[in-house]
Amino acid sequence: MSFNQNSPTTVSAGAMMTFNINKIRADFPILQTEVNGHPLVYLDNAASTQKPQVVIDSITKYYTEQNSNIHRGVHHLSELATKLYENARKTIAKFISADPKEIIYTRGATESINLVVSTYGRKFIGEGDEIIITEMEHHSNIVPWQMLCEEKGAKLRILRMNDNGEISIDNFKEMLNEKTKFVSIVHISNSLGTINPVKEMIDLTHEAGAVFLLDGAQSIQHVAVDVKALDCDFFVVSGHKLYGPTGIGFLYGKKEFLEAMPPYQGGGDMILSVNFEKTVFNEVPYKFEAGTPNIAGAVGLAEAIKYIDGIGIDKIAAYETELLDYATAVVADIPELRIIGTAANKTSVLSFVLSNVHPHDIGTFLNADGVAIRTGHHCTEPVMHKFKIPATSRASISFYNTKEEIDVFVASVKKVIKMFS
Ligand code: ALA
Repeated sequence: MSFNQNSPTTVSAGAMMTFNINKIRADFPILQTEVNGHPLVYLDNAASTQKPQVVIDSITKYYTEQNSNIHRGVHHLSELATKLYENARKTIAKFISADPKEIIYTRGATESINLVVSTYGRKFIGEGDEIIITEMEHHSNIVPWQMLCEEKGAKLRILRMNDNGEISIDNFKEMLNEKTKFVSIVHISNSLGTINPVKEMIDLTHEAGAVFLLDGAQSIQHVAVDVKALDCDFFVVSGHKLYGPTGIGFLYGKKEFLEAMPPYQGGGDMILSVNFEKTVFNEVPYKFEAGTPNIAGAVGLAEAIKYIDGIGIDKIAAYETELLDYATAVVADIPELRIIGTAANKTSVLSFVLSNVHPHDIGTFLNADGVAIRTGHHCTEPVMHKFKIPATSRASISFYNTKEEIDVFVASVKKVIKMFS
């Protein structure tokens, strides 16, 4: 283990809040492994998070004792699998303060955005309409909109950011007009860590008569999200970034929007009746869930949410902020290192460049020390263009990381600097 076993078992996580870091780490079997002869220091959490044993066990149990198809049988296992799948939907809904009917299972945030673009976008966005995104969007919140604009003759408008990686509400206000039909914005940037002022943006979008999609791929695991309080029209999430399995995620949509939208894919389970003259579609959310879904994924995701809820997202947020502040302060003493993304309001991501060392070399040398970070453009090429760099190295933090691990990471970075100087 990379953290000091003799250190106190509880760590401060802000005033009045503590949690047992040793116990938490013991919940994640992969954190006990070694890489290249060193304890794994996993700082690639923005790419994908590790899974607690309870999530792994829930999937094993599902396939060992509970597996069947859903909504299709009267036998015991089919009823059990259906119950698990629908209870998982309720767990997800409760976590973000939604109604279960407003939760559609998808493969993840990318598919959720594509679903909205292909259904809401195709039906309600036309020639001359404007869609606003920011310069810090993930490719999954750029490319589908570009494709729609090309098909419909609509215009994609880009809200730029400043050198800290922050957008301006005044600039946003200036962009909104009667042609604005849709605003699709990342809650927390995966490559910069910026937390965007989304509540204000949602309210302004609605005042302008437009619709707002919030990309929660990097926010749901770091901050509390209440879709009703935020009043966003759509919210998208990937399960694997929320300590759940890959291949499962969800789309939240306000019921009136979901009901007005055409289906996404045709097939089994999304219909009430089919004949060659006319097919009647199922009610929401089933209208959007054609084919046998990822039942085990839904079960695993619900278990992950229960696990996170058991610790408390506010405690997680406070501890992760403390870790990021610590990492930021420690690397500030390295003159060769420049942080990319210095927003006043940010979380969990430390992106950086080193003078004279390419990010891919940094990643490779850190890996030799057992430290996992991501290097590259992080599927945000426009962010790289803005900062005039080809790539960054990115350490991304989770609540199971420790200050001792940050120290191992920083020592490894210093070694690389020395090697290349
Ligand atoms: N979007 C993921 C990341 O930021 C894959 O690494």
